[in-house]
Amino acid sequence: MHGRRSPHGVIGAAGAVVLALGIAGQAMQAAPGEQGSVLAPEGDIERGKNLFMTIGCYACHGIEGQGGFAGPQLGPDPMAFPAFVRYVRAPGGTMPPYTETLLPDEQDLADIHAYLRARSGPAPLSVLPPP
Ligand code: HEC
Repeated sequence: MHGRRSPHGVIGAAGAVVLALGIAGQAMQAAPGEQGSVLAPEGDIERGKNLFMTIGCYACHGIEGQGGFAGPQLGPDPMAFPAFVRYVRAPGGTMPPYTETLLPDEQDLADIHAYLRARSGPAPLSVLPPP
């Protein structure tokens, strides 16, 4: 046990945190013709949904791409399009490859990607009834 200490008068140096939001916006140039390299290409969501069902992605990844028994969640935030194409063409694990012979048109994958991007995420927990 120590004797009484005089109060230090420690004032938390709660320095005024100034958030300067004047950061120059990074100009994202999407030069025509260059599209698709960084940004996801245009895709037809309805068509993408049909493909997702008919070529069987849904069977493993769930109808909404939400993930299922046999495959992980894909949407609403799928990997960038170039990686997506590479993956689907030559997956690393147990997923069957959708080669160019099987699925020649890259637009099909763009449509599927658009479908996945358009999914809504899970509902917030607050909508669940109390236990
Ligand atoms: C037979 C089940 C099956 C089918 C059908 C299937 N997948 Fe998969 N997919 C998987 C599994 C399992 C993984 C996890 C990694 C692995 O084992 O390849 C995966 C992983 C992925 C990934 C990588 C996800 C990540 O975050 O790493 C993408 C993208 C993907 N699948 C897209 C598709 C698309 C698009 C289709 C339809 C063209 C499809 N998959 C059809 C089973 C399947």
